[in-house]
Amino acid sequence: MPGGNRKQAASPLMKSILITGSSSFLGWNLCNYAKSDYEVFGTALTNRSGIAEVKESKIDLTSFDDCRKFIEEIKPDGIIHNAAYSKPDLCEKDPDYSKKLNVDTSSNLAKIASENSIAFAFISTDLVYNGSSKMSDESTPVDPLSVYGKHKVEAEDLVLQHNSSFTVFRCPLMYGHSTTANKGYFKGFYDKMKNGEALKLFIDEYRSQAIASDVAKGIVDLFNDGVSGIFNMGGPQRVSRFEFGMLMKSVLHLDKAQIIPASQKDVPSVAPRAADTSMDITKARSYGYDPSAPIKGLIQLAEEIKEYLQIE
Ligand SMILES: NC(=O)c1ccc[n+]([C@@H]2O[C@H](COP(=O)([O-])OP(=O)(O)OC[C@H]3O[C@@H](n4cnc5c(N)ncnc54)[C@H](OP(=O)(O)O)[C@@H]3O)[C@@H](O)[C@H]2O)c1
Repeated sequence: MPGGNRKQAASPLMKSILITGSSSFLGWNLCNYAKSDYEVFGTALTNRSGIAEVKESKIDLTSFDDCRKFIEEIKPDGIIHNAAYSKPDLCEKDPDYSKKLNVDTSSNLAKIASENSIAFAFISTDLVYNGSSKMSDESTPVDPLSVYGKHKVEAEDLVLQHNSSFTVFRCPLMYGHSTTANKGYFKGFYDKMKNGEALKLFIDEYRSQAIASDVAKGIVDLFNDGVSGIFNMGGPQRVSRFEFGMLMKSVLHLDKAQIIPASQKDVPSVAPRAADTSMDITKARSYGYDPSAPIKGLIQLAEEIKEYLQIE
């Protein structure tokens, strides 16, 4: 058995999973992967996943009574809590709502799961690291710069306090496909590059970018395998935003793209930006997580969305 913690109590090989935020970018990818092997329940608020196989309900997750009633009614084998107030700038502007959804709701859901013996996974972020060192692993002390990152750390702690057999997946910046309202940053970048609009990309901001479909597969497979504790779920390579843009340009034949190298300090943002939140994924790999490097991921993505990209 590979290193790490394996759950003793919760049984692997789940039959049903509840994915909160099924209408989100990552939620769509989680549902899309899980739909063939599991009965998938989803919760959404204003949007929908649009995936026919997902039994989706409209629930405001900040209403704790509604959450308990719903979960005790459907009794899933596992919950992947993915819904969040996920934009760092918005969290900085409205820390009270960020706390309510990102911390209090996560803690409440973990409490309900623990009381009902339901396996639970919390979706966290690479922004729990302060970005001062590269390739952080799970033992690197967390030191978030933004309200969003701070609230994710608080939620991670509370989730694991409710039940130490629960799981935290720290996700990287993700590119990829979804048919939901939020399509991730990739589509916006792609459209700008295709139209030859100037795009300033950081040469001094590094991430372990991964394709969302690989991250979703990793999360669902590891969760079903019964892992517990914290897992970094980045891609296999450390790339700057600029390097990734250049790869997009060449792999997707975006010849008109105008990519301008920029520095973090030249572009003001509301939430402080971490310089390097690349992640070491040795632990997740030891359980079979195998994300594609950016070149392969972009080729894979081009195949997935050929029609949209109009690639022959
Ligand atoms: N995207 C990334 O690159 C990235 C990177 C690292 C970590 N993450 C984490 O991955 C998860 C998904 O991120 P994302 O970017 O895919 O999210 P997203 O597209 O911004 O979607 C947020 C989701 O939360 C739901 N939601 C918001 N407020 C709610 C409420 N009060 N009650 C119920 N549902 C509510 C939304 O529902 P409606 O749309 O129906 O309103 C939506 O499904 C988050 O936990 C995020 O922190 C994402």
